[in-house]
Amino acid sequence: MATILVKYTMSNNHTIVLRFCLTTLIGSAILLPTLYQPLLNSLWTFLKHNPAYQSSTFETFWTVFCYATIEPWVTYIFVQHPEWRLAAKHKKTDEPIRRPHGMRRPSRRLLEGLTYIAPLLLLDLTLIKKFASVPLEAMLVSGNYDPALARSNCRGNTCQVNFLMPSVHNFTSSSPLQTHRALPEAAPSSRRLALELIISIIIYDATFFAFHLAMHVLPGIRAWHAPHHTHAEIHPQITNQLHIFERLGLVLLANFSLNIIKCHVLTRTLFVPLFVWLLVEIHSGLDLPWGYDKVLPTGWGGGAKKHARHHAGGEGGLEPYFEWCDSVLNHSKAFLKGR
Ligand SMILES: *[C@@H]1O[C@H](CO)[C@@H](O)[C@H](O)[C@H]1NC(C)=O
Ligand SMILES: [Zn+2]
Repeated sequence: MATILVKYTMSNNHTIVLRFCLTTLIGSAILLPTLYQPLLNSLWTFLKHNPAYQSSTFETFWTVFCYATIEPWVTYIFVQHPEWRLAAKHKKTDEPIRRPHGMRRPSRRLLEGLTYIAPLLLLDLTLIKKFASVPLEAMLVSGNYDPALARSNCRGNTCQVNFLMPSVHNFTSSSPLQTHRALPEAAPSSRRLALELIISIIIYDATFFAFHLAMHVLPGIRAWHAPHHTHAEIHPQITNQLHIFERLGLVLLANFSLNIIKCHVLTRTLFVPLFVWLLVEIHSGLDLPWGYDKVLPTGWGGGAKKHARHHAGGEGGLEPYFEWCDSVLNHSKAFLKGR
């Protein structure tokens, strides 16, 4: 009893500290943007002149880098803390806790990395990157088009750029691939960054909910989601155990969520580690004392527990990060049954 109490207060302290830090950070970013502007300006000046950051393939490699850092780290926590494993809670305490069946060593995962990178590189090297706040001329130049074309698309100072339609590179022998991405001149404000991050995560969460629901009910695309549900105990490596179309769908929905609100490129760069962290956490199979669902106000975040229940074949849990869409679905199901 005493240990339970101590554990409870400990985990409570973690979440209180985290809650305080997050509220301060987000609150000050939104309310006091002048505080952060000098830092953001120098960071942006550095990034926009950096050749790796200017590369059209930057986001693909950045995502792989974030995933390859975060997932092994959470896997390490998984192995070090069997007491946090959701599956272990229902076991007798004297039973040895094993490494879950199907966990792979890093050397065996090269192919997994390649199947992620290949289709995205193909898109990176053929499509023009169109980002908000970038002059149309700069985008045209990056895609090997005549910047004078911009004139026919612009009236006064407003240019018509459709951020949701793909535009193909103008392939020539001197410019055979889209290797460059045009970046905005100015840094974003911390207010813009914080709001764009929050809104894009919420949009992604709702759109992936719909995609996930479709993959559970539509016969044609059900097979895409099957590899993700074939495992014994859930563990962090399951995060990326995906059919190629499901993985592509996930990335394109994230891209859509960022494009629809015309995010700054720096928001996109920060979105990646946040997005990957949350994705790995919900697949961790761990009841982390500092889980994001405990840090957020009660009833907002779905967390690892809800997602583990979904993986174990339970009802609901289709929404990756939050609770809102799932609860709307549950309520409407209950309403229809009641009639
Ligand atoms: C993501 O969106 C950007 C901006 O519209 C676009 O240029 C890029 O081609 C998209 N990336 C992928 C991988 O589709
Ligand atoms: Zn599922």
